Amino acid sequence: MFSFQLISTLASAALLVSATSTHRGGNCDTSKSVLDLPTTQTTLIVPSTAPLFVTLGVGVQNYSCSSTTSAYTSIGAVASLFDISCLAETPEFATIQATASIIWKNAPPSVKAHIIGRHILTPSLLGDHYFVTSDTGLAAKWDFTSFGRFAGNTSAFVIAAKVGDLPAPTGPAANVDWLALNNVQGALASKVFRIDTVGGQPPTSCVPGSDPISVKYTAKYLFY
Ligand SMILES: *[C@@H]1O[C@H](CO)[C@@H](O)[C@H](O)[C@H]1NC(C)=O
Ligand SMILES: *[C@@H]1O[C@H](CO)[C@@H](O)[C@H](O)[C@H]1NC(C)=O
Repeated sequence: MFSFQLISTLASAALLVSATSTHRGGNCDTSKSVLDLPTTQTTLIVPSTAPLFVTLGVGVQNYSCSSTTSAYTSIGAVASLFDISCLAETPEFATIQATASIIWKNAPPSVKAHIIGRHILTPSLLGDHYFVTSDTGLAAKWDFTSFGRFAGNTSAFVIAAKVGDLPAPTGPAANVDWLALNNVQGALASKVFRIDTVGGQPPTSCVPGSDPISVKYTAKYLFY
C-alpha cells in the first residue's frame, strides 16, 4: 500500500524536470495539440482545427442502483478541469491522466479533486464539469466562469450532448467510454471530447435499494 504523500512526491519529482522549463499557470499555445485517437475507430470525428482548451479532468462518476435491473445507471459526474496545454509537447502529456489517477485514487477522502493538480504540477484550474437538469433530462456542463481569465464571464460555459461514444480502447470494463459531444448551449466551445479515460466504471451489478456510489476517474477533455 502506497502512502498518498509518497506517491505525490514521486510523481512531482518525475514531472519537475520538464515543468520547470515550461511556461506554466496560464494557457499555452494549443495549435500543435492533436487529438490522438486509435486509427481504427470511426466513431469520434476529429475536428481539423486545433483545440481551444486542453484539460485534465479529475473527479467522480456517480451511479445509482436500478431496482429493476440490479445494474448501476449513470446519474452524472463532477470533476475539476486543469489546464494541461503547457504539457502538450512534453513526454508527460501522454500519461498525465494515469499519473493523476494514481494520486487521486490513493488520496484520502478529505482530499478534494481541485487540489490534485498541485500534486502533478498542473495546478491551474480552468473550470468545473458537472451535470445540470435540462428539459431533456441530465445534461453535461463544462463551466469556466469561476477561474482564471474567464472568471466572471457568464458566457464561458458549454452544455453539450453526446454524438459519439467509443468504448475505452484499453480496459473498457474499468475505464469510461471516450466521447464526442456537441454544443447545445453556451459560448465556450462547439465541441467537447473526452478521451484517455482512467477509471469511472461502476461494478457490473448492485444490490437493489443500495446507496448511490461515486467512482473516481480521470480523463482528458479537449474543447473545440
Ligand atoms: C456525485 O457525488 C458526489 C459525492 O461523491 C457529490 O458531491 C455530487 O454532488 C454528486 N453529483 C451528482 C450529479 O450526482
Ligand atoms: C466570454 O467568454 C466567451 C466564451 O469563451 C468568449 O467568447 C467571450 O469573448 C468572452 N467575453 C469576454 C468579454 O471576455
